[in-house]
Amino acid sequence: MSFNMLKGKKGIIFGALDENSIAWQTALVAKEQGAEFVLSNAPIALRMGKIQELGEQCDAKVIPADATSVEDLEKLFSEATEILGGKLDFVLHSIGMSPNVRKKKPYGELDYKLYMKTLDISALSFHKVMHVAEKQDVMNEWGSIVGLSYIAAQRVFPFYTDMADAKSLLESIARSYGYRFGKAKNVRVNTISQSPTVTKAGGGIKGFDVFFDYAEKMSPMGNAPADECAKYIVSLFSDFTRFVTMQNLYHDGGFSTTGISEDVVEMILDAKAREDEEKKDEE
Ligand code: NAI
Repeated sequence: MSFNMLKGKKGIIFGALDENSIAWQTALVAKEQGAEFVLSNAPIALRMGKIQELGEQCDAKVIPADATSVEDLEKLFSEATEILGGKLDFVLHSIGMSPNVRKKKPYGELDYKLYMKTLDISALSFHKVMHVAEKQDVMNEWGSIVGLSYIAAQRVFPFYTDMADAKSLLESIARSYGYRFGKAKNVRVNTISQSPTVTKAGGGIKGFDVFFDYAEKMSPMGNAPADECAKYIVSLFSDFTRFVTMQNLYHDGGFSTTGISEDVVEMILDAKAREDEEKKDEE
């Protein structure tokens, strides 16, 4: 349903690959709420993904940019403001990738070159995006910038390996740049810590199915889906959240503040009962 929450607002949405992507869902909701925007993704994703389809659906231009390249970002921001005919009110950074996770390297055996890539793609790119936006002075007063994080920034999820470090850095950058942008232009910067979500980035993690199910059972509301995350992002782009800044905001159905749930207890009791049965059979 449209409340025209983003009527008259312009922005850039990074990271839509296919319809499962959080950025894809956000583009649909932003469009529905009256926003105009440019879509961007890495050149390779433009070749392999379906972003052009989304562009047609949202009447949005698609501009390739490797978010680790300041040069690409400079071109993107100047083209976007030209296409949109003015400065920006919102930016979504929905970018993450770890070559170490893809290669299933355990945390103690990370390839350091790949580790640097993980940090560059998944965290430093957030700094670079804001650096270029600041230098080109493309943000409007009271604008909003959002990045996407995961609770592995605070708690250990062993299979998330170097992405956990990248998410900690991402959240720290949101605070530090949030201070700077808040002082300069009343622009707010936040990260949303989202539930495990079935997407290309999510599915690449070893044991993803298990921690998806575990989080589903731990969260009183179950895992938050991508389309609901999109609505939360849009609320942060709207004028209803102007003084929310430098925060890491959980969108996780209650996972982060639940110690243990009845569902998890039941799961453990079931497993124990099965174990006892097997022991009995062996005797
Ligand atoms: P996705 O795979 O659909 O999106 C990741 C995007 O990053 C892709 O569009 C990819 O092309 C883009 N990307 C990778 N390298 C890039 C580069 N060098 N330059 C520009 N773009 C690049 O997956 P999803 O899940 O929508 O990911 C979006 C964000 O949400 C990521 O930051 C991810 O870590 C985060 N997140 C995902 C969760 C999940 O379980 N899927 C949970 C919590 C956070």
